Amino acid sequence: MKPKPNTILFITSFIPVVVFKVVARVGDATLAQAKVATVVGLILAGIQFALSKKFLKHTTYLEKAFLGFLGVGTAWVYLAPTHLSSLLVDHSTTLLYFVLFLTTLIPQIFGYDPFTYAIAKQMAPERVWNTPQFRTINLHLTYFWSIIFFANFISSGLGHGKPLFSILIPLLIVFGIGLPVVKLYPNYYLKRQFTPQPIDPSFSPGTAKELILRMPMGFRPEGAGDLNAEIQFDLSGEGGGKLALSISEGTCTVREGEALSPALTIISPADLWLKIARREINPAHALMNGLYKVKGDMNLLMKMGELFHHPTKTRKEDLTQKGEKKMKILAIQGSPRPKASNTEILLREFLKGAQSQGAETETIYLKDKDIHSCVGCYTCWAKTPGICIFKDDMPELLEKVRDCDILVYATPLYNFNMTALLKAFQERLLPLLDPHLVKSGDVYRHPQRYEINRKMVLISTCGFPEISHFDGLRHVFRHIERNGGVPIIGELLMPAGELLKQEGLREHIQGVLQAAYRAGVEVIRDQRVSQETESEIKKPLVAPDAMAEMANLWWDSHLVGITQGKPTQGKIEDMRLLLRGMAATFNVQVAGDLRATIQFEVTGKQTGDWFFSVENGKCTYHEGKVDSPTLAIKTPSEVWLAIANREMDGQQAFMEGKYAATGDMSLLMRLRSLFGSQKS
Ligand SMILES: Cc1cc2nc3c(=O)[nH]c(=O)nc-3n(C[C@H](O)[C@H](O)[C@H](O)COP(=O)(O)O)c2cc1C
Repeated sequence: MKPKPNTILFITSFIPVVVFKVVARVGDATLAQAKVATVVGLILAGIQFALSKKFLKHTTYLEKAFLGFLGVGTAWVYLAPTHLSSLLVDHSTTLLYFVLFLTTLIPQIFGYDPFTYAIAKQMAPERVWNTPQFRTINLHLTYFWSIIFFANFISSGLGHGKPLFSILIPLLIVFGIGLPVVKLYPNYYLKRQFTPQPIDPSFSPGTAKELILRMPMGFRPEGAGDLNAEIQFDLSGEGGGKLALSISEGTCTVREGEALSPALTIISPADLWLKIARREINPAHALMNGLYKVKGDMNLLMKMGELFHHPTKTRKEDLTQKGEKKMKILAIQGSPRPKASNTEILLREFLKGAQSQGAETETIYLKDKDIHSCVGCYTCWAKTPGICIFKDDMPELLEKVRDCDILVYATPLYNFNMTALLKAFQERLLPLLDPHLVKSGDVYRHPQRYEINRKMVLISTCGFPEISHFDGLRHVFRHIERNGGVPIIGELLMPAGELLKQEGLREHIQGVLQAAYRAGVEVIRDQRVSQETESEIKKPLVAPDAMAEMANLWWDSHLVGITQGKPTQGKIEDMRLLLRGMAATFNVQVAGDLRATIQFEVTGKQTGDWFFSVENGKCTYHEGKVDSPTLAIKTPSEVWLAIANREMDGQQAFMEGKYAATGDMSLLMRLRSLFGSQKS
């Protein structure tokens, strides 16, 4: 192998000082010899300097240091008085080490390239000179050499110029420690910076082109700051192509073709770039070894890790205690009244159940988000594939949707369908689909733009008591399931959802909440909600007729409040509604063949007479008075309402005479078990 000019010139750069020492004779030189030696050394150093300039276009600090040392030395031995000039003769080697020590330290202090930079430039290809790694490695090595030269200076100084201390030990240090470290350190440093990581299974672009088209989805505006730049990818081979990535005002877009004035151009084989993106190959190493080329701003290349999320990172917190990957649930809550939402009550229990199985959950309240309606421009399909024109909250949400394992849609039923909030959100999912029509079974559909393994859960409550009201919503979701290829693994549909806030139905509600919790457990444990659990939630809390009557009573009693815009939720405030609710929650299993009439004579703020008639396993509610009731209760409305709302203990109130009862007192004792226990 023919040696390169830079290697030859590096070796020859030592000749002037070696010749100087040989001519001057080590240790016991006379002034006359020293005069000849410095001149010869100076001439040789000048020739070396000129050759480097001519063939390499630059000189090293080593050459400059030798030239300076021999230049000053020559002047010194010729011009200084004899007793002083002999100082150089006696201590020339020690002085040379000191000059070298200063040469390694001073340049970077004044902002010049570090000592080893020029030599490293002679050894390494030009494309890596501007990389931060190149600079850092050189800085480390420069400080390392200053230690080496300082050690030699001390050795030579303490040894009074004796050859063992001024030549042998320093040479041992330079060749035994210095040069091996210079050889090994760059690779060691690069390896330490890069550790191959297992790839996230959800990140599986088949080609480099697909990978780059996806890059805007992983863009981190916080990493970009106010950066405006275009990056051109020129990827050769299968799965490659020319792609222009543009970063401007906190957004990132990509298109096929050539950028007008790219700040950075990456020229690489497509398969190599895919491996680099998957962190199977060290990018800095590959660049230094010429496997790919880069033109333009190297700092931009080095900043790419900050500009884009890395898909291969599996964070420790993403793993369960068993080391399995945590399931990520993203719940999209579409109620316009998120804090007072019936649907939210079910959703929360569901998420608690899922969390109990180690799932990580996040709820997005669409009411709090800025989501522009889709305008149907199809820019996200044609001009900027995968990227919408609107820079509202949606781009961030799209990332979350792509990132989750289970997407939960929680919506109240509005006009037999989802709410407008959720509809707007779903329309804006368009960038995640590919525009092409692909036949699947007997229908055409749009395939997903990105490979996914997502599942879906639907949670909804409605006002009416029959489950059939959800038919439209379910139908829509069946289409969404088929078109997107995202299976629905659970439907939590609860009719008469407003009953979830009725205190009087607490025990019935508990059953529904437990089922919702169980659904969350099942979704993670079994990957789908069981039919029994779904049925438990679907089952009406009270019979539809009773629910309708209760609802009507509620509306009657709240009409004034409603028009003032403030109905109170969750507390029973109306005597008629309370009693109607009690009748609706009559427990036939506990009642058996009971025949009885129970009269309520209510005084106080809501005066009135109402009675229950129990026979044939049924309890009916009536206004007015019944003759000879089995049990008669005389109570102020405030007392009975307080007992129903659990603000007052029923038995204690009776003892304290807050209400009175006559007739069958055992029936009074049975009231709590007869009304408001298990869901029938
Ligand atoms: C504008 C509007 C439309 C509604 N449409 C229906 C409907 O079509 N069918 C139904 O049963 N309930 C309907 N409801 C009632 C809600 O679905 C029901 O109250 C639900 O439990 C509210 O859920 P939320 O508290 O989570 O918002 C509608 C309510 C509103 C305000």
